[in-house]
Amino acid sequence: ATNRTFTMLKPDSLEKGNTGAILEKINAAGFRIVAMKMTQMSTKDAETFYAVHNERPFFRELVEYMTRGPIVAAILEKDNAVEDFRTLIGATNPADAAEGTIRKLYAASMGENAVHGSDSDENAEIEGNFHFSGREQF
Ligand code: CMP
Repeated sequence: ATNRTFTMLKPDSLEKGNTGAILEKINAAGFRIVAMKMTQMSTKDAETFYAVHNERPFFRELVEYMTRGPIVAAILEKDNAVEDFRTLIGATNPADAAEGTIRKLYAASMGENAVHGSDSDENAEIEGNFHFSGREQF
């Protein structure tokens, strides 16, 4: 079925000038962009967005990374969007990511892994609504 996922091009992707190349791969894989913006998360935004990880040892590092510069947030639509997008981006740790995946091509490490992809339809909805109002979703 056609459904939606949520992505962020993380600060390292923008710092390295990889925004266009990553969006091109997303486009070539057949995703339709139904919302998109460049924004910078506040500390409170990142703590809320990643609240599920707040007991993890890497939580502070994650919040600092995600707030250190602008991101590109987007909602993407496609058949089987959540699973197909996770296949396109590759494993969380780029060392384990398959050839040709976005993380294999553009991520430096497990912490700085270039892109986010929602892990379920339910989280895609929550995460998309965190960043975009109803009027910003097409
Ligand atoms: P993502 O899966 O998009 O959301 C959770 C993020 O936490 C993950 O990407 C990484 O950026 C980060 N993360 C996960 N595991 C680790 C780890 N072991 N060390 C540092 N950061 C991590």
